[in-house]
Amino acid sequence: MTDETYSGLLLQKGLIDGEWTGAASGRTVDVHDPATQAVIGAVPDMGWAETRAAIEAASRAFGSWKRKSHAERAGLLETWHRLILENLEDLARILTLEQGKPLDESRGEIRYGASFVKWFAEEARRIGGHTIPAPTADRRILVLKEAIGVCGVITPWNFPSALVTRKVAPALAAGCTVVVKPSEFTPYSAIALCALAERAGVPAGVINVVTGMPAEIGEELMRNETVRKISFTGSTRVGSLLMRGAADNVKRLSLELGGNAPFIVFDDADLDAAVEGAIASKFRNGGQTCVCANRILVQAGVHDAFARKLAARVDAMTVGDGRQAGVAIGPMINEAAVAKINRHLDDALAKGAAILTKPRSLPAGPQYVAPVVLGGATTAMELASEETFGPVAPLFRFEKEEEAVAIANGTPFGLAAYFYTESLKRAWRVGETLEFGMVGLNTGAISMEIAPFGGVKQSGLGREGGREGVEEYLEAKTFHMAGLG
Ligand code: SIN
Repeated sequence: MTDETYSGLLLQKGLIDGEWTGAASGRTVDVHDPATQAVIGAVPDMGWAETRAAIEAASRAFGSWKRKSHAERAGLLETWHRLILENLEDLARILTLEQGKPLDESRGEIRYGASFVKWFAEEARRIGGHTIPAPTADRRILVLKEAIGVCGVITPWNFPSALVTRKVAPALAAGCTVVVKPSEFTPYSAIALCALAERAGVPAGVINVVTGMPAEIGEELMRNETVRKISFTGSTRVGSLLMRGAADNVKRLSLELGGNAPFIVFDDADLDAAVEGAIASKFRNGGQTCVCANRILVQAGVHDAFARKLAARVDAMTVGDGRQAGVAIGPMINEAAVAKINRHLDDALAKGAAILTKPRSLPAGPQYVAPVVLGGATTAMELASEETFGPVAPLFRFEKEEEAVAIANGTPFGLAAYFYTESLKRAWRVGETLEFGMVGLNTGAISMEIAPFGGVKQSGLGREGGREGVEEYLEAKTFHMAGLG
C-alpha cells in the first residue's frame, strides 16, 4: 500500500555525514513531472562547499567501514535490499513521477536495482586475494584486495534508481564510501534509496548525496584528491571531459557512455521472436536507454514481413502518462530530447525514409512523441551515426551477412549489439565478429545483475554487475613477506 507522502521517501534534501541538509546558499533546483511539466518540488542546489563536506564525511567514514567484516557489510546490504522491495510501490511511483516511464517499467526498474544490492551482498563474502608461489623458501607473496577509498558516483536520469544501486552496492561491498550525484532531472529516486540505506543501518558518512546542477559538484569530485575513483553513466562527451579531469590526479574511472546498438535480423531468424526482441530492446523506457536498438538491420528475404509485423506491434502501443494503466510509452525526459528525436526524423524523411506505422493522435503536452517504424533507413542519415534516444525504429535493408556486420561495426561506439539467427555456425561467426561489450543472440534483453555490463571503444571503460562489478572498487596490494625461513 502507498500513501500521499510516499511513506516519507519523497525527500527534498541532500545527505551529508548522516544529516539531511539544504544548500548553504539556500538555492534550489526545481524538479518537473515530464508528463505534465508541473513542478514536483525542489532539491538543494549544492556546489563546491557541500561537495567538499560530503567528500570529507565519506573520508572519515572510510576507515571504520572498510574494517568491517565482509559479513557485516553484506548483512547491511541484505537489509537494504529487503527495505527496497518492501517499499517497491512507493519507489516506483516516485520514479514515474520524476522520470515519466510507465509504472510497470518503474516497478521492473526497482526490482532490477534491488537485484544489484542482493548480488553484491553475496559477492561481498567472496572478495578475496590470492597467493603466488615465492622464488625462495623464506618468502611468501600475497595479493590482497583492498577498497579503493572514497568514490564519486554520478548517475543519469534514464535509470535513476537502478544505476544508483549498480554503482553504490559494489562500492559498499568492497569497503568504499561514496558521494552520489544524481541527475538534476531525477534526484528523488536516489535520495529515497539513500534514505532506505540509512534505515537499513548503513552508518553516517558511508553514503552521501549531493544534489543540484552538475558543474561545481562535478568539478569538486574530479579535482579533490581524496576522491580515488569516479563511476559515471552518461554521454560520451561528458565521459571524455571526466577522463581529462581524472588525469590531473590519476583517479580511477568507470564510464558507461553512449551506444549505437545494431539489431540484426537474418533471413533464417525466428521472425516473431525477432519482433518481440526488437520491441523489448527498442521501446524500453520509450527508447531512452544506452542499450536500445538504434539501427535495425533486416536481411532482404524477411525485410517486408518483419517490417509489417513490427509496425503492427508498434501501432498497438499506447502513449500517455506513465501512471495510467496500459501505457507503453511515457513522455520523454524533456523538450531537448523531443527536439533531437524530431531532428533525426526530419533528416531521415528528407533523405528518403518512410513512416510505416499509422498516424496517431498524442496526449496533450510537449514531451510526448509517437513511436514509429521507419522504412528505407540508410547510413547517410543522422540516426545511423547518433543515438536517437527515443521511440524511433529505423529499418536498414541488407543483402549479405558481411554487409550487415560491417554496418554494425561501423561506429565509434561499442556498447550493445543484438542479432537473430537459427544457424549455430552464423551465431558463433557473427557473435565473435561484433565489436561490442555485450552481444545478445536471439534476445533483446541483456541487462541483469549476474552479468557484466559495459562497452568498448567510445562506449566506456570498466564493467558493472557480474563478478567484474566489485573489482572496479578494489585495488590489488601485493604483500611480499621475506625472512620467514
Ligand atoms: C543505461 O541505459 O545506461 C542502462 C540500461 C540498462 O541497465 O539496461
